[in-house]
Amino acid sequence: MTHDELFIKIERAIERDPTRALEEAVRLLAAEVPVYTWVGIYLLDGDELVLGPFVGKPSPHTRIPLGRGICGAAATEKATIIVDDVNADPRYLACSIETKSEIVVPIMLRGDVLGEIDVDSDRPAAFNDADRRLLERVAALLAPRVRRPKPKPDLKPDVKQVH
Ligand code: SME
Repeated sequence: MTHDELFIKIERAIERDPTRALEEAVRLLAAEVPVYTWVGIYLLDGDELVLGPFVGKPSPHTRIPLGRGICGAAATEKATIIVDDVNADPRYLACSIETKSEIVVPIMLRGDVLGEIDVDSDRPAAFNDADRRLLERVAALLAPRVRRPKPKPDLKPDVKQVH
C-alpha cells in the first residue's frame, strides 16, 4: 500500500468513527507499514507528554517531561525529528533494545503543540521524507480531534462591582 492510499484509509476510518481517531490512526500505521515497529501518540498535559494509544511493546516512558527525550525535543522545537541511529543520539530515551531509529511528529493546532506521533523502527535509518510527509498529514488530520486537557481553574479573585 502506498503512503497516499494509507492516508486515505486512515481518513476514512476516522470519518467512520471520529471518537476513535487516535486509536485508528495508530492501529493502521502499525498494521500497514512493516518497518513501523512501535507506533504511539503522546498528548501534552501541562509540561509533560502523556502516552495515549499505542501499538507495540509497552513503553516504560508513559510520562515524558518536555525537556527530555526525542519526544520532548520535538514538542519543544515544534518540529519533526528523525533519528537514524537512536543509540548515537544522547537525547534518546530507550523503549526497547531492538529500536534502531525513530521519528517524532508534533500534532499542532494554530501554532500550539497538542501532542505527537512517535514511531520507532527496528531498522536503522527507517524513516525518510515520505514518512515525514505521511505522518505530518496524519498529525494535521488528528489535531482537531485531540481533546485539550481541562484548563486549570481561574485563580483571579472575583471582581465585585462597586456602586
Ligand atoms: N524514544 C522516545 C521515548 C518514547 S519511546 O520510544 C516509546 C524519546 O527518546 O523521547
